[in-house]
Amino acid sequence: MLPENILTQVILTAKTAGAFIRQERENFSYSKVEIKGLNDLVSYVDKTAEELIVKKLSNIFDKAGFIVEENTRSEKKEYNWIVDPLDGTTNFVHGIPCYAVSIALEYKGEVILGVVYEVSRDECFYAEKGKGAFLDGKPIAVSSRKTVSESLIATGFPIYNFERIDNYLAALKHFMQHTHGLRRIGAAAADLCYLACGRVDAFFEYNLKPWDVAAGALIVTEAGGSVCDFSGANNWLFGKEISCTNGFLEKEFNKIIQTQFQK
Ligand code: IPD
Ligand code: CA
Ligand code: CA
Repeated sequence: MLPENILTQVILTAKTAGAFIRQERENFSYSKVEIKGLNDLVSYVDKTAEELIVKKLSNIFDKAGFIVEENTRSEKKEYNWIVDPLDGTTNFVHGIPCYAVSIALEYKGEVILGVVYEVSRDECFYAEKGKGAFLDGKPIAVSSRKTVSESLIATGFPIYNFERIDNYLAALKHFMQHTHGLRRIGAAAADLCYLACGRVDAFFEYNLKPWDVAAGALIVTEAGGSVCDFSGANNWLFGKEISCTNGFLEKEFNKIIQTQFQK
Protein backbone atom coordinates (compact mmCIF):
# COMPACT_ATOMS: atom_id res chain seq x y z
CA MET A 1 0.00 0.00 0.00
CA LEU A 2 1.46 3.37 -1.06
CA PRO A 3 1.46 6.37 1.29
CA GLU A 4 -1.66 8.47 0.70
CA ASN A 5 -0.10 11.75 -0.42
CA ILE A 6 2.95 10.23 -2.09
CA LEU A 7 2.71 12.33 -5.28
CA THR A 8 2.57 15.62 -3.37
CA GLN A 9 5.61 14.60 -1.35
CA VAL A 10 7.59 13.55 -4.42
CA ILE A 11 6.76 16.85 -6.14
CA LEU A 12 7.99 18.70 -3.07
CA THR A 13 11.18 16.63 -3.07
CA ALA A 14 11.84 17.36 -6.77
CA LYS A 15 11.25 21.09 -6.21
CA THR A 16 13.50 21.17 -3.13
CA ALA A 17 16.32 19.53 -5.11
CA GLY A 18 15.56 21.92 -7.98
CA ALA A 19 15.88 24.94 -5.69
CA PHE A 20 19.31 23.67 -4.58
CA ILE A 21 20.37 23.18 -8.23
CA ARG A 22 19.12 26.68 -9.16
CA GLN A 23 20.99 28.25 -6.27
CA GLU A 24 24.25 26.44 -7.09
CA ARG A 25 23.97 27.53 -10.73
CA GLU A 26 24.22 31.20 -9.65
CA ASN A 27 27.94 30.97 -8.85
CA PHE A 28 28.80 27.73 -10.62
CA SER A 29 32.31 27.48 -12.01
CA TYR A 30 33.34 25.04 -14.73
CA SER A 31 36.37 24.17 -12.58
CA LYS A 32 33.98 22.14 -10.38
CA VAL A 33 33.22 19.73 -13.23
CA GLU A 34 34.52 16.17 -13.07
CA ILE A 35 34.70 13.82 -16.05
CA LYS A 36 32.91 10.50 -15.40
CA GLY A 37 33.78 9.06 -18.78
CA LEU A 38 34.06 10.20 -22.40
CA ASN A 39 31.93 13.37 -22.72
CA ASP A 40 30.12 12.43 -19.51
CA LEU A 41 30.19 15.34 -17.04
CA VAL A 42 29.25 15.50 -13.37
CA SER A 43 29.79 17.79 -10.37
CA TYR A 44 29.06 18.02 -6.66
CA VAL A 45 25.66 19.49 -7.64
CA ASP A 46 24.46 16.18 -9.16
CA LYS A 47 25.77 14.18 -6.21
CA THR A 48 24.49 16.46 -3.45
CA ALA A 49 21.08 16.74 -5.14
CA GLU A 50 20.91 12.95 -5.33
CA GLU A 51 21.80 12.51 -1.65
CA LEU A 52 19.09 15.00 -0.72
CA ILE A 53 16.50 13.24 -2.91
CA VAL A 54 17.41 9.74 -1.70
CA LYS A 55 17.10 10.82 1.94
CA LYS A 56 13.68 12.38 1.37
CA LEU A 57 12.37 9.46 -0.70
CA SER A 58 13.43 6.94 1.96
CA ASN A 59 11.34 8.88 4.46
CA ILE A 60 8.35 9.04 2.09
CA PHE A 61 8.26 5.30 1.27
CA ASP A 62 10.89 3.11 2.89
CA LYS A 63 9.71 -0.11 1.20
CA ALA A 64 11.24 0.98 -2.11
CA GLY A 65 14.79 0.31 -3.31
CA PHE A 66 16.83 2.70 -5.43
CA ILE A 67 18.12 2.85 -9.00
CA VAL A 68 19.96 6.18 -9.09
CA GLU A 69 22.44 7.69 -11.52
CA GLU A 70 25.20 8.84 -9.20
CA ASN A 71 25.27 5.62 -7.17
CA THR A 72 24.81 7.26 -3.78
CA ARG A 73 22.53 4.29 -3.01
CA SER A 74 21.95 0.98 -4.75
CA GLU A 75 19.48 -1.71 -3.71
CA LYS A 76 16.75 -3.31 -5.78
CA LYS A 77 13.40 -4.29 -4.33
CA GLU A 78 9.87 -4.96 -5.59
CA TYR A 79 9.28 -1.20 -5.60
CA ASN A 80 12.16 1.04 -6.72
CA TRP A 81 12.73 4.77 -6.85
CA ILE A 82 14.41 5.60 -10.17
CA VAL A 83 16.20 8.92 -9.89
CA ASP A 84 18.16 11.27 -12.11
CA PRO A 85 19.05 14.13 -9.75
CA LEU A 86 20.11 16.39 -12.62
CA ASP A 87 19.16 15.45 -16.15
CA GLY A 88 20.92 17.77 -18.58
CA THR A 89 24.21 18.17 -16.71
CA THR A 90 25.98 19.43 -19.83
CA ASN A 91 23.38 22.20 -20.18
CA PHE A 92 23.74 22.98 -16.47
CA VAL A 93 27.53 23.30 -16.45
CA HIS A 94 27.49 25.46 -19.58
CA GLY A 95 24.71 27.68 -18.24
CA ILE A 96 22.26 26.66 -20.96
CA PRO A 97 18.61 26.51 -19.82
CA CYS A 98 16.83 23.16 -19.61
CA TYR A 99 17.91 20.75 -16.90
CA ALA A 100 15.62 18.73 -14.71
CA VAL A 101 15.15 16.57 -11.65
CA SER A 102 13.54 13.26 -12.60
CA ILE A 103 11.98 10.91 -10.02
CA ALA A 104 9.93 7.80 -10.78
CA LEU A 105 8.53 4.93 -8.76
CA GLU A 106 8.65 1.51 -10.40
CA TYR A 107 6.74 -1.58 -9.25
CA LYS A 108 7.71 -4.96 -10.72
CA GLY A 109 9.15 -3.37 -13.86
CA GLU A 110 6.30 -0.91 -14.44
CA VAL A 111 6.51 2.82 -13.74
CA ILE A 112 3.56 3.90 -11.58
CA LEU A 113 4.51 7.48 -10.66
CA GLY A 114 6.69 10.09 -12.34
CA VAL A 115 7.74 13.65 -11.57
CA VAL A 116 9.98 15.82 -13.75
CA TYR A 117 10.85 19.26 -12.45
CA GLU A 118 12.47 21.44 -15.12
CA VAL A 119 14.50 23.80 -13.00
CA SER A 120 15.32 26.65 -15.36
CA ARG A 121 11.68 27.24 -16.39
CA ASP A 122 10.24 26.25 -13.00
CA GLU A 123 7.89 23.74 -14.64
CA CYS A 124 6.73 20.63 -12.81
CA PHE A 125 5.34 17.75 -14.89
CA TYR A 126 3.88 14.69 -13.17
CA ALA A 127 1.69 11.64 -13.57
CA GLU A 128 0.41 8.63 -11.69
CA LYS A 129 -0.55 5.50 -13.62
CA GLY A 130 -4.16 5.72 -14.79
CA LYS A 131 -4.71 9.27 -13.51
CA GLY A 132 -3.56 11.49 -16.42
CA ALA A 133 -0.60 13.84 -16.78
CA PHE A 134 -0.23 17.36 -15.43
CA LEU A 135 1.94 20.45 -15.69
CA ASP A 136 1.75 22.61 -12.58
CA GLY A 137 -1.77 21.47 -11.73
CA LYS A 138 -3.22 21.61 -15.25
CA PRO A 139 -3.94 18.49 -17.31
CA ILE A 140 -1.71 18.12 -20.36
CA ALA A 141 -2.13 16.23 -23.61
CA VAL A 142 0.01 15.32 -26.59
CA SER A 143 -0.30 17.17 -29.91
CA SER A 144 -2.79 16.15 -32.56
CA ARG A 145 -0.47 16.19 -35.57
CA LYS A 146 -1.25 13.24 -37.79
CA THR A 147 1.73 12.93 -40.12
CA VAL A 148 5.47 12.80 -39.59
CA SER A 149 5.96 15.32 -42.40
CA GLU A 150 4.26 18.05 -40.33
CA SER A 151 5.96 17.11 -37.05
CA LEU A 152 8.74 18.49 -34.85
CA ILE A 153 10.98 15.70 -33.57
CA ALA A 154 13.12 15.75 -30.42
CA THR A 155 16.18 13.56 -30.05
CA GLY A 156 19.46 13.22 -28.16
CA PHE A 157 22.78 12.91 -29.97
CA PRO A 158 25.01 9.99 -28.96
CA ILE A 159 27.83 11.31 -26.76
CA TYR A 160 29.93 8.26 -25.89
CA ASN A 161 28.36 5.13 -27.34
CA PHE A 162 28.85 5.35 -31.09
CA GLU A 163 28.01 1.73 -31.98
CA ARG A 164 24.88 2.75 -33.86
CA ILE A 165 25.99 6.16 -35.08
CA ASP A 166 25.53 5.33 -38.78
CA ASN A 167 21.93 4.21 -38.23
CA TYR A 168 21.35 7.25 -36.04
CA LEU A 169 22.71 9.63 -38.68
CA ALA A 170 20.60 7.91 -41.34
CA ALA A 171 17.53 8.50 -39.17
CA LEU A 172 18.50 12.16 -38.71
CA LYS A 173 18.99 12.55 -42.46
CA HIS A 174 15.55 11.14 -43.09
CA PHE A 175 13.86 13.36 -40.49
CA MET A 176 15.75 16.48 -41.66
CA GLN A 177 14.34 15.94 -45.12
CA HIS A 178 10.84 14.82 -44.16
CA THR A 179 9.70 16.75 -41.05
CA HIS A 180 9.32 20.31 -39.79
CA GLY A 181 12.62 19.88 -37.96
CA LEU A 182 14.61 18.33 -35.15
CA ARG A 183 15.53 19.58 -31.65
CA ARG A 184 18.37 18.45 -29.38
CA ILE A 185 17.15 19.91 -26.11
CA GLY A 186 19.83 18.26 -23.93
CA ALA A 187 17.71 16.62 -21.23
CA ALA A 188 15.81 13.45 -22.10
CA ALA A 189 13.35 13.96 -19.24
CA ALA A 190 12.44 17.35 -20.72
CA ASP A 191 12.23 15.90 -24.26
CA LEU A 192 9.61 13.46 -22.99
CA CYS A 193 7.63 16.09 -21.08
CA TYR A 194 7.70 18.44 -24.08
CA LEU A 195 6.18 15.59 -26.09
CA ALA A 196 3.60 15.00 -23.37
CA CYS A 197 2.41 18.62 -23.48
CA GLY A 198 2.43 18.92 -27.26
CA ARG A 199 5.55 21.07 -27.81
CA VAL A 200 7.12 18.33 -29.93
CA ASP A 201 5.41 15.41 -31.66
CA ALA A 202 7.87 12.52 -31.32
CA PHE A 203 11.15 11.63 -29.62
CA PHE A 204 13.79 8.95 -30.09
CA GLU A 205 17.20 8.22 -28.61
CA TYR A 206 19.47 5.23 -27.97
CA ASN A 207 21.69 4.49 -24.98
CA LEU A 208 19.43 6.18 -22.44
CA LYS A 209 19.38 4.78 -18.91
CA PRO A 210 16.28 4.02 -16.79
CA TRP A 211 16.69 7.26 -14.79
CA ASP A 212 16.63 9.33 -18.03
CA VAL A 213 13.29 7.95 -19.19
CA ALA A 214 11.30 6.40 -16.33
CA ALA A 215 9.34 9.43 -15.12
CA GLY A 216 9.04 11.16 -18.51
CA ALA A 217 7.77 8.07 -20.32
CA LEU A 218 4.91 7.61 -17.84
CA ILE A 219 4.03 11.29 -18.30
CA VAL A 220 3.94 10.69 -22.08
CA THR A 221 1.61 7.68 -21.89
CA GLU A 222 -0.64 9.38 -19.35
CA ALA A 223 -0.85 12.37 -21.73
CA GLY A 224 -2.06 10.05 -24.51
CA GLY A 225 1.23 9.26 -26.26
CA SER A 226 2.95 6.03 -27.25
CA VAL A 227 6.24 4.63 -25.88
CA CYS A 228 8.20 1.62 -27.15
CA ASP A 229 11.70 0.42 -28.01
CA PHE A 230 13.13 0.53 -31.55
CA SER A 231 11.52 -2.78 -32.49
CA GLY A 232 8.09 -1.61 -31.36
CA ALA A 233 8.26 -3.79 -28.22
CA ASN A 234 8.02 -2.77 -24.59
CA ASN A 235 11.67 -2.99 -23.50
CA TRP A 236 12.30 0.77 -23.28
CA LEU A 237 12.94 1.18 -19.54
CA PHE A 238 16.06 -0.97 -19.27
CA GLY A 239 16.59 -1.64 -22.99
CA LYS A 240 18.53 1.57 -23.79
CA GLU A 241 16.40 2.62 -26.77
CA ILE A 242 13.18 4.57 -26.80
CA SER A 243 10.79 5.79 -29.45
CA CYS A 244 7.80 7.91 -28.40
CA THR A 245 5.05 9.70 -30.27
CA ASN A 246 1.81 11.58 -29.77
CA GLY A 247 0.02 8.30 -30.57
CA PHE A 248 -1.32 9.46 -33.93
CA LEU A 249 2.19 9.12 -35.40
CA GLU A 250 2.97 5.81 -33.69
CA LYS A 251 2.76 3.52 -36.72
CA GLU A 252 4.43 5.83 -39.24
CA PHE A 253 7.20 7.03 -36.90
CA ASN A 254 8.09 3.61 -35.54
CA LYS A 255 8.27 2.16 -39.05
CA ILE A 256 10.88 4.81 -39.94
CA ILE A 257 12.86 4.09 -36.76
CA GLN A 258 12.73 0.33 -37.40
CA THR A 259 13.85 0.77 -41.01
CA GLN A 260 16.73 3.12 -40.16
CA PHE A 261 18.00 1.06 -37.21
CA GLN A 262 17.76 -2.34 -38.89
CA LYS A 263 20.10 -1.49 -41.80
C1 IPD B 1 21.78 13.04 -20.48
C2 IPD B 1 20.62 13.82 -21.07
C3 IPD B 1 20.79 13.96 -22.57
C4 IPD B 1 20.94 12.62 -23.23
C5 IPD B 1 22.13 11.88 -22.62
C6 IPD B 1 21.89 11.70 -21.12
P1 IPD B 1 22.58 13.54 -17.95
O1 IPD B 1 21.60 12.86 -19.09
O2 IPD B 1 19.39 13.22 -20.81
O3 IPD B 1 19.69 14.60 -23.17
O4 IPD B 1 21.17 12.81 -24.61
O5 IPD B 1 22.29 10.65 -23.22
O6 IPD B 1 22.95 10.98 -20.56
O7 IPD B 1 23.92 12.86 -18.08
O8 IPD B 1 22.65 14.98 -18.23
O9 IPD B 1 21.87 13.18 -16.70
CA1 CA C 1 20.12 11.86 -17.47
CA1 CA D 1 22.07 13.13 -14.53
